[in-house]
Amino acid sequence: MASVIIAGVGSYAPEKVLTNHDLSKMVDTSDEWIYTRSGIRERRIAADDEACSDLAVKAAQSALADAKINASEIDLLIVATASPDTPLPSTACYVQHKLGVPAHATCFDIAAACSGFLYALEIGYGQLLTNRYKRALIIGAEKLSSVTDWKDRTTCVLFGDAAGAVVLTKVPQPNIGILGSDLGADGEFADNLYIPAGGSKCPASQKSVEDRGHFIRMNGREVFKSAVRVMETVAREMMEQHNLTPDQISLVIPHQANIRIIEALAANLKVPMDRVYVNLDRYGNTSSASIPLALDEARRAGRVKPGDLMLLVAFGAGLTYGATLIRW
Ligand code: UT7
Repeated sequence: MASVIIAGVGSYAPEKVLTNHDLSKMVDTSDEWIYTRSGIRERRIAADDEACSDLAVKAAQSALADAKINASEIDLLIVATASPDTPLPSTACYVQHKLGVPAHATCFDIAAACSGFLYALEIGYGQLLTNRYKRALIIGAEKLSSVTDWKDRTTCVLFGDAAGAVVLTKVPQPNIGILGSDLGADGEFADNLYIPAGGSKCPASQKSVEDRGHFIRMNGREVFKSAVRVMETVAREMMEQHNLTPDQISLVIPHQANIRIIEALAANLKVPMDRVYVNLDRYGNTSSASIPLALDEARRAGRVKPGDLMLLVAFGAGLTYGATLIRW
């Protein structure tokens, strides 16, 4: 049976660095609190004139160059984002136009928050396997700074802006590339992490702006507990489905939300931290961009070699979650 492989990876993070020290001048917080509670030291913030699609395009150009594939050859383009350029149309359409992806390509966004990249990857994988499409561009891109409440110290210290992208192609060899994925969601926990206003439930109004309803609201403790539980379960299930034990996984790339969540996941799975990729100290939580950004860094740092088994694990608002197993 043929396989779907990641033929190229790319990422982009905006130039502007916002440190914990900078934040301590904006809200009542400290570098010590942020670092010990989250593991974050600094994050990147997009320029005012940089939209989500601009970050996505830069990551995509890097992934296309890595794959040695031209934008004109892409026939499926999916952008996972929780901070689209506009509510309508999809950010994927802006990206298509800026990149020069042809008009016959299928282009759309996925809304699955921090699990969005793994959701989009699963769709791309399935569509390529059916032979309906030949080359897919899968992007996770976020300008979370545009939906962050910079007066709320419980959330504004966590998030950052970035984008990551992969190019998927099909190859005749079996048992390489994406080996499988397991995705899920539990809407019971939807209110633990959400943006209250700006949708059909609470359209934009003067009151919604005064109430700061267009920014992320989060019950951090509840999200923390759910994250540790669902990430461990879905990662374990993925390994069991493929008859794998944790020592066979060369690298775990978890969603980069909080070092304590990542360490709890590693301890519960019995995977040593030197086989878990962490870069949230430099980028914070970049939602759907976090896994492809980490994957790109890990590969360029020589942490991913041909034949390696990698487990990507995510959770996010929804509560969505997922794990994807890849043989490089
Ligand atoms: O992609 C998914 C996105 N979300 C997440 O992954 C979030 C998951 N949750 C977390 O990462 C953690 O719950 C946080 C980092 C958000 C918070 O850490 P925590 O250990 O759960 O702290 P807490 O919410 O229990 O707050 C402890 C104290 C509180 O004060 P009191 O009530 O003990 O007096 C907070 O008011 O820390 C206070 N606090 C802060 N202090 C300084 C909350 N935020 C800050 C802050 N600086 N930025």
